Amino acid sequence: MYKIAVAGTGYVGLVAGVCFAEVGHKVTCVDIDEKKVNVMKSGVSPIYEAGLEELMQKNYAAGRIDYTTDYESAYKDADVIFIGVGTPEQPDGSANLSYIATVARQIAESIEKDCLVVVKSTVPIGTNDKVEQFIQDFLVHDVKVEVASNPEFLAQGSAVQDTLDAERIIIGTESKWAEELLMNIYEPFRLPIVSVNRRSAEMIKYASNDFLALKISYMNDIANLCELIGADIQDVARGMSFDDRIGSKFLNAGIGYGGSCFPKDTKALEYLARQNGYELKTVKAAIDVNKDQKAKLYKKASKRLITFNGLKVAVLGLTFKPGTDDLREAPSLENVPLLLEQGADIYAYDPVGVENFARVHPEGKNGKGSITYVSHIEHALEGANVCFIFTEWGEVKAITPEMYNNLMRTPLVYDGRNIYRVEEMQEAGVEYHSIGRKPATREGIKESKKLELQTPIS
Ligand code: UDX
Repeated sequence: MYKIAVAGTGYVGLVAGVCFAEVGHKVTCVDIDEKKVNVMKSGVSPIYEAGLEELMQKNYAAGRIDYTTDYESAYKDADVIFIGVGTPEQPDGSANLSYIATVARQIAESIEKDCLVVVKSTVPIGTNDKVEQFIQDFLVHDVKVEVASNPEFLAQGSAVQDTLDAERIIIGTESKWAEELLMNIYEPFRLPIVSVNRRSAEMIKYASNDFLALKISYMNDIANLCELIGADIQDVARGMSFDDRIGSKFLNAGIGYGGSCFPKDTKALEYLARQNGYELKTVKAAIDVNKDQKAKLYKKASKRLITFNGLKVAVLGLTFKPGTDDLREAPSLENVPLLLEQGADIYAYDPVGVENFARVHPEGKNGKGSITYVSHIEHALEGANVCFIFTEWGEVKAITPEMYNNLMRTPLVYDGRNIYRVEEMQEAGVEYHSIGRKPATREGIKESKKLELQTPIS
């Protein structure tokens, strides 16, 4: 078993640290935020992630994991140091590597024995070479240090499961020593390991994420065409999915991908290509489609309603996907300001994302409109003129078509996640617009409500 230090306790660092402890390694997680460190020591996870807190508590009690701000003591005699700090996107699309540089400097000044530094953060191709050079330049003690790449493929909401039961581990090394050391660290996981050189490992991460982003954008593009020609994207996806070469995953059209990885990694690779004098047309197309897709529902609804001024608008789901409280690049962040600008009175529901969202949009009057957070979906729907579904939470899926008809003032639903069958909404008398499918028209809507929906609400 090895002595491991992990720099950064976000999704990548904390989950990796906890999982290394779970398989028996001795782990110290380092973060600059003292408050966060104390919270973690008390057994509370700073992020919402299924199963994480239980493993934190179990491994802390067993003495296999600890948290500290004292990087020197954590790094000085570590066998391996994993770097899992953020590489946020900069305005030009490039990745901000300043957190990596800070940690690299701290490592160089702290290590007192031979050590392998493993970069888990997603970094532009060639960064690992630079990190190695940087650490060597600033080394204080006469020790051997090498840098390896070990990109992380976990998805938020299933991060622990994705790590303990990953489909593959990618390791990118430049020496037998580094390769064997990393193989040994991962041995207890009993997972397939793909060992390549450093640059290929860095590229595998971007190429994988960008391929998935492309797959989603492709389906969104086809969905938009389906609407125009009267095809149904879900039937189309089902038909495609039986082809093993295409596969059944990531064929869901919707209001565009969000999260910390796809938006950032597509832009970063496109930027990297540009820097190298190459136009990465496929990835650029994925980025463009995604940008348009996010405002798609809003545009559809604005045509239908003319104005949102004074309307009660139910918003179901704020996070970029279910199972996480993360809002990064969430479609809600794009659509809610548009609705507020138009004077909408928003009633928003999300099982875990409200706290984060309220930091950006505090409850109350907001520009021409207002926002109220509710803890029951029914309170959002009661008397609402229109409803937007941005995240496919289980709680949202549990709302029956009849409930929209019964609770809303006018049962008009814009669903960015294709949760319902068009027919069931039609039968329940709900006017329903989704992505890549025909709408459910207002036929069958109760007479009293029908009147109000006859013409655009203005
Ligand atoms: C992703 C990758 O899956 C993971 O391997 C990588 O390491 C980090 O980025 P994550 O961003 O956490 O993980 O979530 P994921 O489940 O992949 O979803 C990303 C976005 O794509 C979400 O906004 C989701 O709603 C959207 N999506 C996904 C679709 O629109 N359609 C789909 O079919 C699948």
